[in-house]
Amino acid sequence: MSVSDDTNRRGPPAMMLGIESSCDETACAVLDGEGRVRAEIVASQIADHAPFGGVVPEIAARAHLAALAPMVRAALAEAGIAARDLSGIAATVGPGLIGGLIVGAGFAKGMALATGAAFYAINHLEAHALTARLPGIAARAPDFPYLLLLVSGGHTALIAVEAVGRYRRLGTTLDDAAGEVFDKVAKLLGLGYPGGPALEALATEGNPARFTLPRPLLGRAGCDFSFSGLKTAVAQIVSRLPPGSLPRGMAADIAASFQAAVVEAMADRLSHALAMMPESTCVVVAGGVASNRAIRGRLEATATAGGLTLIAPPLRLCTDNATMVAWAAIERRRAGYSADDLAARCRPRWPLDGAVQSLIAGKAVSVAV
Ligand code: KG4
Ligand code: ZN
Repeated sequence: MSVSDDTNRRGPPAMMLGIESSCDETACAVLDGEGRVRAEIVASQIADHAPFGGVVPEIAARAHLAALAPMVRAALAEAGIAARDLSGIAATVGPGLIGGLIVGAGFAKGMALATGAAFYAINHLEAHALTARLPGIAARAPDFPYLLLLVSGGHTALIAVEAVGRYRRLGTTLDDAAGEVFDKVAKLLGLGYPGGPALEALATEGNPARFTLPRPLLGRAGCDFSFSGLKTAVAQIVSRLPPGSLPRGMAADIAASFQAAVVEAMADRLSHALAMMPESTCVVVAGGVASNRAIRGRLEATATAGGLTLIAPPLRLCTDNATMVAWAAIERRRAGYSADDLAARCRPRWPLDGAVQSLIAGKAVSVAV
């Protein structure tokens, strides 16, 4: 069952539907062939998972299943098009929680089969990596190669984005992801889920110099990250306090001290990555953690010190969304990659370095350039 490339198949504008369901956001978006957003809808499942203090994969998959069909219908209506007007349908097929991936990819494949649109199997990390090139994000779309810092609940990586489909991982976390450690420390401080935004708010009231916490891997060669030692240090401080609820002032000082340690460690890792990639044209940040003002401000200063601009997409495109999925498909199509086979598999693990490899065992993806 092979699907041909859809370039100009139905004449411009070639509408692309994007579907994202790899974690706890169900999202869909419609973009025209130039990357203009015609519809964008995101449904967060935070309320479904909050009672459990984290994402429950089975609940996530069922919530995606319930949300997707009406959401796609609403997105098509918002874009003012019918399903048959779509020339391409793109879905995240990895990395992520397998249940949600199967729901989103299965839905997209079914629609592609029914409408004759081309199917694009998108790597979620590639979608984050290319978002900054979406028209309207930066005054001028960043040229390749650029340095990407991806800091989300599931991923922490510094990546050289060399071209569409060509990525080189410079560094990653050796243990927890950045967002994960914000969530875990927030939990220790008695804050709700997701903890990152609540911890940032609390930190503004606190004294960052109250506790001396480790700066993980500071000054060490390379640009890997590590957060578990920092998390343990916070846990030890909390465990030494008298039982009962933490006084707000104390919690704020811990939050501020923790955030200061993360900020310093991240700036250090970024400056190492910049030295490893002197050809970088700019620095791009993505992922929910990049919305943290203290982190963003320090990363901006680090990039500027290296003579580069920091490009941070607006928050709605930094966190998980489907516009980036549709845009990645448009970028891949423009770069000459063919559409994907309906037999493409979902991959819970799919490192970005292998993004151009085939999803169909033993076959290389054909590149039309
Ligand atoms: O990119 P994202 O929305 O979802 C994925 O993980 O893919 O990132 C969510 C993560 C959560 O761990 C959340 O606590 C963290 O990003 N986060 C923050 C902030 N806002 C969200 N961490 C620190 N400061 C924030 N302001
Ligand atoms: Zn993500």
